[in-house]
Amino acid sequence: MKTAVVTGAAKPESIGHEVAIRLQREMDVVVLDLFEEGFSSLPGAKCIKCDVSDPAEVEKAFGSIRQIDVLVNCVGGSWEITKDDLRAGPRRGFRGLTNCSLEDWNAIRGANLDSVFYCCRAAAPLLKKQGGAVVNVSSVAARKGIPPGAEGSSGPYAVAKAGVMGLTRQLALELGEFGVRVNCVAPGVIASGRLKKVLKFSGDQGPEGPLKQIPMGRVGTVAETAALIVALCGDDTSYLTGVTIDVNGASYAA
Ligand SMILES: NC(=O)c1ccc[n+]([C@@H]2O[C@H](COP(=O)([O-])OP(=O)(O)OC[C@H]3O[C@@H](n4cnc5c(N)ncnc54)[C@H](O)[C@@H]3O)[C@@H](O)[C@H]2O)c1
Repeated sequence: MKTAVVTGAAKPESIGHEVAIRLQREMDVVVLDLFEEGFSSLPGAKCIKCDVSDPAEVEKAFGSIRQIDVLVNCVGGSWEITKDDLRAGPRRGFRGLTNCSLEDWNAIRGANLDSVFYCCRAAAPLLKKQGGAVVNVSSVAARKGIPPGAEGSSGPYAVAKAGVMGLTRQLALELGEFGVRVNCVAPGVIASGRLKKVLKFSGDQGPEGPLKQIPMGRVGTVAETAALIVALCGDDTSYLTGVTIDVNGASYAA
């Protein structure tokens, strides 16, 4: 039986939650998340409380895992990413590179980019034993930035998510000879619990700009995003590595 580790899967309306549920159909699943209330929504998964932006907590969590065939890094966002703000809801106002605090920069980079680095490094020795797949989650924000005035995301987030694309390319080179594939998915605006919280105050204004500018005329679903991530974990995509795949209704081009 294979084992998958999924970070950021405990909130029931999250992309990671749907990924964990789907992967459970074919493998054992270990979830790393801070949101303990959500652990009961994943019966059958081994859930470990872990702040993935903290390298010591990541080392400890991975130290208790004996086998890893798949790693999916789903933790991310510009808010609800630390122990203190995990239930706080979106912050109001535009947060760009020139008006964010240093705390914002460190927290957002920590949860979106450093966390992927820590988890990939910790998982690498076990992945290399038999080969496997890593899927990282970036964002359309890395392609086009966050326009000034938009609320619910941030400039540091766009930069950190661009880093995730670079990390993916680099790691694919380093792990290719061990049969470990490393890919990235860059969602556009997806109707997770996170998006619903933003739309409560922003109407038709998504975190990356007006929703009406999405060429397909709608936001994406969690299921559409999770299906792509799970496909990248499996053998049907066995020659695909080092790439980022957009799932955004063509919105990066708008
Ligand atoms: N929803 C979208 O529109 C969208 C668009 C582009 C990219 N993404 C990316 O997709 C991923 C999933 O997004 P989502 O909308 O499902 O988010 P979400 O907020 O619904 O879920 C995030 C999960 O990560 C957990 N988490 C947050 N900080 C953590 C930390 N420091 N340590 C451990 N766990 C932590 C949360 O408890 C939650 O279970 C993120 O990387 C996000 O940036 C989402």
